[in-house]
Amino acid sequence: MKRIGMLTSGGDCQALNAAMRGVVKTLLNSSETVEIYGFLDGYKGLIYDKRQMLTGKDFSGILTKGGTILGTSRTPFKTIQDPDENGLNKVEAMKQNYYKLQLDCLVILGGNGTHKTANLLRQEGLNIITLPKTIDNDLWGTDMTFGFQSAVDIATDAIDYIHTTAASHGRVFIVEVMGHKVGWLTLNAGMAGGADIILIPEIPYDINKVVDKIEERDKKGSRFTIIAVAEGAISKEDAKLSKKELKKKMEKNPHPSVSYEVAAAIQKKTGREVRVTVPGHMQRGGSPCPYDRVFASRLGAEAGKLILDGQFGFMVGYKNREVVRVPLEDVAGKLKAISPDASIVQEAKLLGISFGN
Ligand code: F6P
Repeated sequence: MKRIGMLTSGGDCQALNAAMRGVVKTLLNSSETVEIYGFLDGYKGLIYDKRQMLTGKDFSGILTKGGTILGTSRTPFKTIQDPDENGLNKVEAMKQNYYKLQLDCLVILGGNGTHKTANLLRQEGLNIITLPKTIDNDLWGTDMTFGFQSAVDIATDAIDYIHTTAASHGRVFIVEVMGHKVGWLTLNAGMAGGADIILIPEIPYDINKVVDKIEERDKKGSRFTIIAVAEGAISKEDAKLSKKELKKKMEKNPHPSVSYEVAAAIQKKTGREVRVTVPGHMQRGGSPCPYDRVFASRLGAEAGKLILDGQFGFMVGYKNREVVRVPLEDVAGKLKAISPDASIVQEAKLLGISFGN
């Protein structure tokens, strides 16, 4: 008999359901009897014991369904050890609820913040297995996270749509892609959509270099320019500021996001018409793409196998095209960012893409 708890935490993404289905199918296909408890709305469900007992039926027909059948929420790691508004010790509450149900293991699906709390629970003695979800693809220890490829498809579609209208009007168009800390999504969607300029947090931009590229295209007779800008793209000047100085500067910033700031600067320097499109949370929505369905199912199956083997304290990841088990303590608190020297960046440059640096 195995008693499993499961929760999804942080921003949702495509293929969370496919991954959970993979875990449960693997367990149900074994000779073990299994009891599954789904905690609702992320760690909140575990803290306040909001849960549902689930059966195989609950996981049937969800392979293609976006979002998460368990609901999710953000429970920031930096305040997880602070008491809640009623003085409740959240970490102790999670442990008590785990022990009350006599769980053999807790399967946690999440991104960076989620993994920090998962590792804390492991340190506190709980049996934890995690699965790497996020459209940002920024989890250390895995080459890929599920949700990423589906989001690349959506962001690419957005750039494709913009291409035709940009060409007709001869405008500069900015498409803002999700990713505050890293630019994986922007870089991949930008390359897939044929963007001329890609601005990502890892490579601070110089607005004059951005303008140079637009003017170079003008001279060659290209009437339009497509710029893919990550939410977290940052100028060279801003990158030199301390966190505190930047926060202060941002408080006075009249622009709703970096894309509008870049647009205003280009408009001022060139007199060109610039438009901004923000696909926003659409990038996390809808059905997982076929790649993510297969990928999340594979990771889920491996998580199920880990449970059957009694192996805990791992994130199931993906390295060099193989599904791997990565110790949680190695994953927690580390960000997987793009190195400016990465081959994909160099190849993009060979294609003539400017990073504005
Ligand atoms: O989950 C990752 C992510 O989609 C980031 O790409 C984005 O910056 C952020 O979440 C948005 O967060 P929220 O859904 O809380 O607005």
